[in-house]
Amino acid sequence: MALWSGRFEENVSEFTQRFGASLPVDKALYREDIAGSKAHAKMLADCGVISSEDANKICDGLTSIEEQIDNGSFEFDINNEDIHMSIESKLTEMIGDAGARLHTGRSRNDQVATDTRLFAKRRALELMKANIGLREALVSQAKANFDVILPGYTHLQHAQPVLFSHHMLAYTWMLARDFDRLKLAFKAADANPLGSAALAGTTYPLDREETTKSLGFAKVIPNSLDAVSDRDFLLDLIYACGVSCLHLTRLCEEIVLWSSSEFQFVTLSDAFSTGSSIMPQKKNPDFAELIRGKSGRVVGDLVALMVTLKSLPLAYNKDLQEDKEGAIDAAKTLEDCYTCATGMISTMQIHPDNMLKQAMKGHLAATDVADYLAKKGLPFRKAHEIVGQLVLKCEKENCNLDELTLEDFKEQSDLFEEDIKEQLDLRAIVDARTTYGGTSTSAVKEQLKLAEEKLAEDRAAVNAH
Ligand code: ARG
Repeated sequence: MALWSGRFEENVSEFTQRFGASLPVDKALYREDIAGSKAHAKMLADCGVISSEDANKICDGLTSIEEQIDNGSFEFDINNEDIHMSIESKLTEMIGDAGARLHTGRSRNDQVATDTRLFAKRRALELMKANIGLREALVSQAKANFDVILPGYTHLQHAQPVLFSHHMLAYTWMLARDFDRLKLAFKAADANPLGSAALAGTTYPLDREETTKSLGFAKVIPNSLDAVSDRDFLLDLIYACGVSCLHLTRLCEEIVLWSSSEFQFVTLSDAFSTGSSIMPQKKNPDFAELIRGKSGRVVGDLVALMVTLKSLPLAYNKDLQEDKEGAIDAAKTLEDCYTCATGMISTMQIHPDNMLKQAMKGHLAATDVADYLAKKGLPFRKAHEIVGQLVLKCEKENCNLDELTLEDFKEQSDLFEEDIKEQLDLRAIVDARTTYGGTSTSAVKEQLKLAEEKLAEDRAAVNAH
């Protein structure tokens, strides 16, 4: 018999019971449900709605149920639609009337909104921690290989040389923004719907401030209709997960390329590679590919919830029961991707010689040679044209710019002097880019300091909870 069966004469079929149940999904929220119920019971007693004796029995019973679920001895029955009913039925079975008083002044509508918000806060915080772990791995690689030069690319064509540390730090900034997005998702969830009851509030003199405090919410939601129907905080969480997954796809795509025979920039540790069942020689970057692939589902989770929420009239509608599966999946997927990427990045071996060898190809000094002429007074467009001619000559003679003689340079312009050779040195090219945020040693050192400061700030934000 369902907890609401009073006005019914016929039971739903076994199929519809299963179809309508959310228990297989919302089981994951049992800790939040128990915390919410304890806070509610205590508040009911403090407001004189139930006796403190009943509240104590309720809290003790809930503690025992939590232990049973923790250790796997709790028997779930699919006839209980969701985690809320499973726990409440069990409680009443255990302690009788006191358990049956728990739901006074409460509806599953404010109950589920409360649980889901507590869950979203917990997961956002756990993801923020995992995000920090990955950024630390990137920063460590940047520090350990600070001076290494590799070709910087645009259109995946050699463009200008950059420091490997600069390249790694670019990813830490993406992930730092993801951290901020997760923090915003935490904040969006951080408001208390409990006390809104089904949709309109309740006739009992509930103290909503009390449950706000005891559950650790930052504030009370001021409108009961909005409180039970708002799921924006889940959209925010899944969006934050989705964007971060997209960032990981970019990192992993580069790792797939870099570990190929064509690049040979990095070797992945065996612990983050797999072999082939037919080709004995193979070592595949499976985990980088898998992280790349998993992003699809997370983006799907976001779209799915957006469509579920579209056109819903106020207040609670059963459609909202579909809100949790995608959010749980998105958070778990991103958490696993962070864990995997952290291991992969921190164990990845860098090959500075191969990076440098590639940086010598593709006339990476071309912009600097043009700048050399421009600094001697030639309009930059004209300088660009002259260097283009020099590159063409190199292409025809199958050599690189730095292999040309001073005579070759002078043939194109009288402005070239002996010191042009200094412009062709990769280290000098890198170190000349001293603008704030540029790739010179000094600028990247400064940037590294900022990245570490942001990490410290974010660690402190996580530890504050
Ligand atoms: N299982 C439901 C959910 O997850 C709980 C709320 C049900 N409320 C209701 N009025 N049917 O959304």
